[in-house]
Amino acid sequence: MEISIRPLREGDIPEARRIISLAFGTFVGVPEPETFMADRDYPGALLPATNTAAFAAELDGQFVGSNFATRWGSVGFFGPLSVHVDLWDQGVGQRLMEPVMEAFENWGVTHAGLFTFPQSPKHINLYQKFGFWPRYLTAVMSKRVGTGNARTGAVLFSSLSEEEQDHTLQGLRSLCHDLYKGLDLTDEIRSTYHLGLGDTIICPGPDAPLAFAICQHGEKSFASDKCCYVKFAAVRADGNAPESFSELLKACCAYSEDHSLTFLVAGVNLAREEAYRAMRVGGFKTIIQGVTMHKPNESAYSRAGLYVLDDWR
Ligand SMILES: CC(C)(COP(=O)(O)OP(=O)(O)OC[C@H]1O[C@@H](n2cnc3c(N)ncnc32)[C@H](O)[C@@H]1OP(=O)(O)O)[C@@H](O)C(=O)NCCC(=O)NCCS
Repeated sequence: MEISIRPLREGDIPEARRIISLAFGTFVGVPEPETFMADRDYPGALLPATNTAAFAAELDGQFVGSNFATRWGSVGFFGPLSVHVDLWDQGVGQRLMEPVMEAFENWGVTHAGLFTFPQSPKHINLYQKFGFWPRYLTAVMSKRVGTGNARTGAVLFSSLSEEEQDHTLQGLRSLCHDLYKGLDLTDEIRSTYHLGLGDTIICPGPDAPLAFAICQHGEKSFASDKCCYVKFAAVRADGNAPESFSELLKACCAYSEDHSLTFLVAGVNLAREEAYRAMRVGGFKTIIQGVTMHKPNESAYSRAGLYVLDDWR
């Protein structure tokens, strides 16, 4: 069996989407696997993003799987990883891990991670081979967004002038760096805006932003229909973090309402105990639960006291 790995190309996207649906749909056991999340084109949107690298596996010239790596400054994560069901357990998944690990190395990533199925010995074992270790659960939570949501002083990245955007990004880099050295969402914020995937909500402070949330929606994003998906959100780590988090969630609800989105969806690692509890109190319920695996086996920015939302999907 001759497996080769190469960069993913735009022309691969339809087949990549088909195999992602087939692989995940089969694993989770839906009746028609090929229809699983088939209305989403997030692979098509991941490819042109400046902070991603995407890879394809071929068997005798035939496309059989893909993997995507994302860089947030010093932090890297990967997924979705998928292999055609006919080829499972023959080493293709491992081959698709190799260029991702190489990308992390080249990017100088100091903390790498992934989100996977906690009940699957195969998944945990596969990623352990590459040095990842399971830590806390991540809850993907959802809340129905009603109407008449309170307005806050939050502003949208898209509404800022170029100069203001640069200045704001500088403030957000410093906010993230204080949570984990080198964590940087600049490219994710810019890609979200330039690729038309959504916008970033910013809660301004007297000197620098207090909090922000990258909100994505529409069929090119990872969000399901009518959902606002928080790709990443964080609050400045100071004494007012709980209040800033509450304001940020309010602003996300108002943004969802303004875009006629019915559900607000966000992931939170359960190591961020206060943030998870605040989500529960705020009316969020867990819809999917996964485990995050980390390399090295350290908390990075998944630790108590930090108000951060993400799920590494
Ligand atoms: C997960 C997935 C990408 C793995 O691809 P794959 O080509 O089947 O994986 P590989 O064959 O390279 O590696 C699987 C490893 O797990 C091992 N494994 C399988 N079942 C196992 C079990 N019950 N316990 C421990 N190890 C197990 C295999 O033996 C193999 O290791 P080995 O080479 O040392 O024997 C593929 O199964 C898939 O597409 N699944 C559906 C989508 C998905 O779940 N994606 C990942 C989400 S995080």
